[in-house]
Amino acid sequence: MDDLVNVHDFERRAADVLEAGVHGYYAGGAGDERTLHDNAAAFARYRLRPRVLVDVSETTAATTVLGAPVSMPVLVAPTALHRLAHDDGEPGTARAAAAAGTIFTLSTLATSRPSACAIDGAHQWFQLYVLKDRAVSTALMEEAVDCGFEAIVLTVDAPRAGRRERDFRTGFAVPPGIDMPAVQAATGAPVCPTPQEFFELVDTTLTWRALEELVDASPVPVVVKGVHTAEDALLAAEHGAAAVIVSNHGGRQLDAVPASLDMLPEVVDAVGDRVEVLMDGGVRRGTDVLVALALGARAVLVGRPVLWGLACGGEQGVARVLQLLHDEVQLGLTLLGAPSPSHVIRAHLTP
Ligand SMILES: Cc1cc2nc3c(=O)[nH]c(=O)nc-3n(C[C@H](O)[C@H](O)[C@H](O)COP(=O)(O)O)c2cc1C
Repeated sequence: MDDLVNVHDFERRAADVLEAGVHGYYAGGAGDERTLHDNAAAFARYRLRPRVLVDVSETTAATTVLGAPVSMPVLVAPTALHRLAHDDGEPGTARAAAAAGTIFTLSTLATSRPSACAIDGAHQWFQLYVLKDRAVSTALMEEAVDCGFEAIVLTVDAPRAGRRERDFRTGFAVPPGIDMPAVQAATGAPVCPTPQEFFELVDTTLTWRALEELVDASPVPVVVKGVHTAEDALLAAEHGAAAVIVSNHGGRQLDAVPASLDMLPEVVDAVGDRVEVLMDGGVRRGTDVLVALALGARAVLVGRPVLWGLACGGEQGVARVLQLLHDEVQLGLTLLGAPSPSHVIRAHLTP
């Protein structure tokens, strides 16, 4: 893997090593994939404005997110079905994130249970879909919280799975032997539902009242993932969210929405200091992270880069992707004249 020197290299190598259906499932977006492409392209519409003759001798990428110390403002986004990429699966990703000193978010649609991913002393979050049968989603949440997961990430942009046409073309189906054991245990189903069947269980009647109920029921903070607008960010804050993630699910849900980066400023302006604002979608470079910080994100999350790392080298591949991103952020801060993430401001940016 030494010849892979940035996330783009990992992306290309993953396309070679993954079976076509799995690659399409990971790489693809919804519809015409406009949002998928725009997520990454949005970063290139900005340029950085470095300040010079700033003491950068002690530059650090470290920051905090919801009070937890992290080595960099880059967290691991929840993504489904890690064992499709590599046998190390979610436990391998969790170990790599913990070793990198950052937060790992376990998807509801994971191929391992929370207990297999929990690591003492690590900061870990659990992503939740609220299901029609509340007993099932409560069981999923309780299992994660019992295992030490420190926040619930409620995904709100997926009442149904988006229209992912690459999967139609490849006929992608989860191969036998790749199960979602936490989902199976919580539903009590004799055979594990497929991801498609799982989305039939998701409660499409959900409204903001459900967020309030979840916040009341959850012993840990609730982060709302999939916020696109200032209006919804404010509602999330009013209904008890501790943080929002500006996200379009990596372009996999409603196509033709703006890039996450382009939705970020209105959310930041609307919520001010009321909740922490995170974003994901298209982050591939340390300089992308700097752009997001300058627009007011506290941190970003990465989805596909972690999957590419896993595909190329299991736990070690994820570790290398996270190390590369850390080093790029650290060098970027140094050259930007911002000795820490909190020093990055909007004046560091020009369109
Ligand atoms: C293959 C794949 C599976 C995903 N599964 C989930 C999931 O189970 N739950 C969730 O909230 N988001 C899921 N996401 C969305 C990610 O959390 C994140 O929003 C997105 O990947 C960020 O964009 P990026 O891949 O460009 O970094 C998934 C994304 C991908 C690519």
